[in-house]
Amino acid sequence: MTYAVRYYTKTGNTKRLAEAIAKELGVEALPISTPVTEKVDYLFLGNSYYAFDIDPEVKAFVGSLGKDKVGKIVNFGSAAMLNSTWKKIKAEADKAGVAMDEKEFHCRGEFKFLHKGRPNADDVKAAVEFARQYK
Ligand SMILES: Cc1cc2nc3c(=O)[nH]c(=O)nc-3n(C[C@H](O)[C@H](O)[C@H](O)COP(=O)(O)O)c2cc1C
Repeated sequence: MTYAVRYYTKTGNTKRLAEAIAKELGVEALPISTPVTEKVDYLFLGNSYYAFDIDPEVKAFVGSLGKDKVGKIVNFGSAAMLNSTWKKIKAEADKAGVAMDEKEFHCRGEFKFLHKGRPNADDVKAAVEFARQYK
């Protein structure tokens, strides 16, 4: 299996998860400003909610992907209140014609006074275990 890990972060939470997942998969966690140039079975895509939506940069990134390059997107991330960006990413993936894995990893993420310290060590451990099933 081949993998790539890309993430978008505003406050570092997604980067923390991305680095743990990437380490488990033996690849580098890179920001979405780095295009996916190699063909991969799974693209792990870390992203979050900001004002009830995913960032426009994340939408543009998913739009730039092609099914010739990416087998499946695997969504992961954290949010303070909302549950998952999966449907938002899926909408963009559908437009780009790229498949999305049904499974995803999601946990709480610190935002202002909410969820201090999260993703914490337990969240990171759970993210690593999530990634392990793709090996
Ligand atoms: C500007 C901003 C807006 C946010 N809006 C939401 C939101 O609408 N719903 C939500 O559940 N979390 C919201 N959050 C919380 C983030 O999703 C959460 O802190 C996440 O862990 C941030 O990941 P990051 O550090 O990788 O950017 C917001 C965070 C920021 C910084």
